[in-house]
Amino acid sequence: MTTPNNPLDIEKLRQDFPVLHQEVNGHPLVYLDNAATSQKPQCVIDALVHYYATDNSNVHRGVHTLSQHATDDYEAARSKVRRFINAAEDHELIYVRGTTEAINLVAQTYGRQNIGAGDEIIITGMEHHSNIVPWQILTQDTGAVLRVIPFNDNGELLLDEYEKLLGPRTKLVSVVHQSNAMGTINPMEAIIEQAHARGIPVLVDGAQSIPHIPIDVQKLDCDFFAFSGHKLYGPTGIGILYGKSELLEQMPPYQAGGEMIRSVTFEKTLYNILPHKFEAGTPNIAGSIGLGAAIDYVEDVGMERIASYEKELLDYGTDRLTRIEGLRLIGTAREKGGILSFTLGDIHPHDIGTILDSQGIAIRTGHHCAQPVMQRFAIPATARASLAFYNTRAEIDTLVEGIDRVLEVFS
Ligand code: ALA
Repeated sequence: MTTPNNPLDIEKLRQDFPVLHQEVNGHPLVYLDNAATSQKPQCVIDALVHYYATDNSNVHRGVHTLSQHATDDYEAARSKVRRFINAAEDHELIYVRGTTEAINLVAQTYGRQNIGAGDEIIITGMEHHSNIVPWQILTQDTGAVLRVIPFNDNGELLLDEYEKLLGPRTKLVSVVHQSNAMGTINPMEAIIEQAHARGIPVLVDGAQSIPHIPIDVQKLDCDFFAFSGHKLYGPTGIGILYGKSELLEQMPPYQAGGEMIRSVTFEKTLYNILPHKFEAGTPNIAGSIGLGAAIDYVEDVGMERIASYEKELLDYGTDRLTRIEGLRLIGTAREKGGILSFTLGDIHPHDIGTILDSQGIAIRTGHHCAQPVMQRFAIPATARASLAFYNTRAEIDTLVEGIDRVLEVFS
């Protein structure tokens, strides 16, 4: 599909994703669970197979040729990440398992070093559990306090409340860029500016924004940025923590073992330089290389074009869904990514998901690991369709027909 305002050839791009071309429960698959994980283009699958079939070897450990190939590809992928998010230096990118590990890393290193009893950490009411619980554990261990920026009925942060929360005891602000439960895109530049005006560092949870909008960490001026490869069309089990050099340099190691050391005696260990100080043990080499391939792929498609196409698709989906009687959209922020989270009368979202699945339509149902968002709206769960650039208007139409079928079943 090529729309007048967008030159992306979606039907051609869809050919790059083998998973999309199958029937599920006797219907062509309509994959609308991209916020949980996105599908992988053939080039990512090929990169994984190529690594295991031709270069499989450990990195930074061997003088032999295969190890050098693996190391070169592993480090080349790091450079691709740097270019993709416009970090200043390769060593500011730490390979981790995903966003969750990235946030835990910061909580257990930067947090333990800099946050003490009575100090405050600010998060928002729309965080994924992975940007709540690591801080809760830290506050329980240190006596620090968690402060929460509330949001309005549309799912937009109340920035004047944020302003009031910032104080002399605030030691860190950690905010989700795009809500996985509602789709809200938060005004990160303003949030960061307000914190920096008081000398407070900011972590951005970019798990949901990275596949959808161009990211420039230097322009954002965030201190940490965390994301997962698998939502960016890359493999699972690989992610990135970006941190400014001066912060990473001062932070203690997260995990201890091989690779993160410069020298070890029984009396004393000297730690390795960045980024290796934070990469103990044999890393996910194939995953890193796969992530590099995914970045090559989306750069080729073009992040600006992806963002504009998905916006158009979201507008179309919003219009179609809001015409359905009894359907309530959860998350109606003006700045919003491709998330259509909804309830349908008193039909349980799990039933909605099951009936849609019987028609080949994959969505996510539940609290989306964001229970405080559900509590804010006094609902137990939502049904959530989440978009990627390979989705089409025709698939939204199929979703709407599927929802009509759900209503028929419950009428
Ligand atoms: N955090 C992912 C989601 O929202 C798994 O579905």
